Amino acid sequence: MKGKKNLITLLDYSDAQVAALIDCADQLKKQKGKLRADLKGKTVALVFQKPSNRTRVSFSVGVHQLGGHSLYLGPDEISLGKRESTYDVAKTLSRYVQCIVARVFHHSDMVELAEHADVPVINALCDLHHPCQALADIQTIRGQFGKWKGLTLAYVGDGNNVFHSLMIACAKVGMNVRFAGPPGHDPDPEILKVARTIARKNGVAIECVRNPQAAVKGAQIIYSDVWVSMGQEQETARRTKDFKGYQINADLLKDAAKNYIFMHCLPAHRGLEVTADVIDGKHSVIFDQAENRLHAQKAVLLYLLKSGH
Ligand code: CP
Ligand code: NVA
Repeated sequence: MKGKKNLITLLDYSDAQVAALIDCADQLKKQKGKLRADLKGKTVALVFQKPSNRTRVSFSVGVHQLGGHSLYLGPDEISLGKRESTYDVAKTLSRYVQCIVARVFHHSDMVELAEHADVPVINALCDLHHPCQALADIQTIRGQFGKWKGLTLAYVGDGNNVFHSLMIACAKVGMNVRFAGPPGHDPDPEILKVARTIARKNGVAIECVRNPQAAVKGAQIIYSDVWVSMGQEQETARRTKDFKGYQINADLLKDAAKNYIFMHCLPAHRGLEVTADVIDGKHSVIFDQAENRLHAQKAVLLYLLKSGH
């Protein structure tokens, strides 16, 4: 496919493209899963090197609702770089399918896959980015507040893949971001630098602090993710110690905006990064977020696979 497009990181998309994807996702949401024929005759490979509930299921269902066919290929079927090279996987799959959705460990594997595949590649999570999650998140935020501008999102915890994509998305749509995490778990400095440049251009800021209270004060959106990401299991003891004091609980939320929403990409660990009363409480929008994965990813599939989009 000549001049094919990918979704590896939202940094490759303009502010207007990101907003257009969310407008499309909102339109698709209104259609309530009505069967369409946009991907008729097209097959999408889901190459997953790590477990997944939301991403795998929402892509499978989304491709089906758009009239296409999806094919799940787990680590036992395709073991990138082990059974065969990423290059050979990219070239081979390109002869069979019209799109590759991939969940991998290393960002460099994602880049290699996208570089050599002749069909669009969608990043379904790597160690640095989770763009599909961030699209669903900003769709959820606008769905709740009817706008992005003037809002502040406070993220408490690990400066990880989910946070990287989220701060890029927020910067692009003009939201302020405050990050609070312990030393040694800050966001990637290069990604932070680029995201801050985008934020500045849009008249907003990305602040990094150590004190979670300071981050949460007055924020309308409170966000957390796991302290131990997939692939970091051997660091569980150290991380659990490091993140003590970064739990989102009722006490921390006393100074949040009155109408705050609580967000989490899931899976979550109640009693660790967030207490049960918060994640299961009336401010929580976690299942709207999960649902919006479906709509946002359908918008991405249309953008990448349908000519004229
Ligand atoms: N949020 C998210 O990506 O969930 P899964 O790991 O279950 O796909
Ligand atoms: N940061 C988490 C997100 C899971 C959806 C991980 O990478 O495991």
